[in-house]
Amino acid sequence: MKTLHVCAQPMLRAFFTLLFVASLFGLSACNGSSKTTFVLETNSEFSWGLSESTALPIEPDSNPMTEAKFQLGRHLFYDDALSGNGTQSCNSCHEQALGFADGETLPVGSTGQVLARNAQGLLNVAYNSTLTWANSSLLSLEAQIAVPLFGEDPIEHGINDSNEELVLDALRANPLYPDMFAAAFPNDGDPVDMNNVIRSLAVFVRGMVSFETDFDRFQSGDTDALSASAQRGQTLFFSEGLECFHCHGGYNFSDSTADRTMYPAFIERPFHNTGLFNIGGTGDYPSDNTGIFELTGVPSHMGKFRAPTLRNISVTAPYMHDGSMADLEEVIDFYAAGGRNIAAGPNAGDGRLNPFKDSLVNGFSVTPSEKQDLIAFLNALTDESFNTNPRFSDPTE
Ligand code: HEC
Ligand code: HEC
Repeated sequence: MKTLHVCAQPMLRAFFTLLFVASLFGLSACNGSSKTTFVLETNSEFSWGLSESTALPIEPDSNPMTEAKFQLGRHLFYDDALSGNGTQSCNSCHEQALGFADGETLPVGSTGQVLARNAQGLLNVAYNSTLTWANSSLLSLEAQIAVPLFGEDPIEHGINDSNEELVLDALRANPLYPDMFAAAFPNDGDPVDMNNVIRSLAVFVRGMVSFETDFDRFQSGDTDALSASAQRGQTLFFSEGLECFHCHGGYNFSDSTADRTMYPAFIERPFHNTGLFNIGGTGDYPSDNTGIFELTGVPSHMGKFRAPTLRNISVTAPYMHDGSMADLEEVIDFYAAGGRNIAAGPNAGDGRLNPFKDSLVNGFSVTPSEKQDLIAFLNALTDESFNTNPRFSDPTE
């Protein structure tokens, strides 16, 4: 088995979360000596359900894929018992029919706290080179999943020191789990612990991969898979005039894509300011959503977010990190204008003039029918097969 090493960047805001996760996974703070290893060749029987020609996602050495972990993770994903007050599961904010987004502008955590950012769809997350909307430090699903489980600001699942044992007891009391944990972690004496909860959830989410859209069928030679309108939209999407493909390019429609063929030298982790805000004309974004500036403090990082995949985009409305755009028409109008001008209110300012805006977002003109063509193309990125696949559905239904 071939393994390579990578060093995670220090995380500022969620520092304590990182320490917690680091202690779970036996990593020390990144001072040049610690390494996370990743498996680059399949060492398990795990069936990804992908075609031979599709590059496999990167898989951490400390948590190789197995079907037993995948099935346990699937059960845990849908289980309200996995929250401090027994009211919330991952599924509360990530629903399969919506590409595992939630249809809300902003989700609400288990104790009623409104989150600052829109819940993301979970298709092909295993291919994201960083996780979440704007976090240059979250490089593994194991690290990311600890955030909703244990995060205190905002509270999502609300698990903490005082209720963690109660949550684990609730899992132990479920007739299914003791055997499932034992099958997933056969070498652990008492396998029902938070470390293994996170590992199984990460394996489940990592296994949620699919490339079965009309676009993919067209690519593999089925010339009827895209309507004439969607084909015109495809040409627009990949044109230098509209520039979409520069940031939403590649097989996963995001420039933040990583797989085993790119690891580690060719992995990029870009973030872009698209001109959504320009509060007071100084380039500012709302204080709870400043992009990677929140972590790095570098002034030019203000408003820089990851370009998300556009796969499944037709089912994951509303859009953008703050869920502030209702539909794809609004999104295209925004790009055509080269940013968003907010005339009044606390966020007033002309985003088109944001000094940190990416030069690829500089406006274009499209006719109403070209707009419909572009939307027809974006709709062809919907993965119905993934959104209805029983393999990813609630096992108790
Ligand atoms: C209260 C709502 C809520 C719950 C519960 C929740 N999430 Fe999320 N999830 C979000 C939001 C919001 C984001 C974007 C976070 C950000 O950018 O700060 C997100 C992001 C993610 C991402 C990153 C996706 C990407 O493209 O990088 C993953 C993976 C994820 N969630 C998995 C989970 C798992 C697994 C659980 C259960 C342990 C869970 N979530 C529970 C709201 C939620
Ligand atoms: C400079 C890079 C860049 C270019 C060019 C670009 N995008 Fe984006 N796109 C982003 C980023 C970054 C976000 C997230 C922005 C945020 O929430 O602050 C985004 C968000 C989106 C979203 C919302 C995604 C979601 O899950 O909410 C859609 C839809 C979208 N872009 C479509 C397009 C289309 C269509 C084009 C071409 C007209 C385009 N983009 C051009 C970087 C880019």
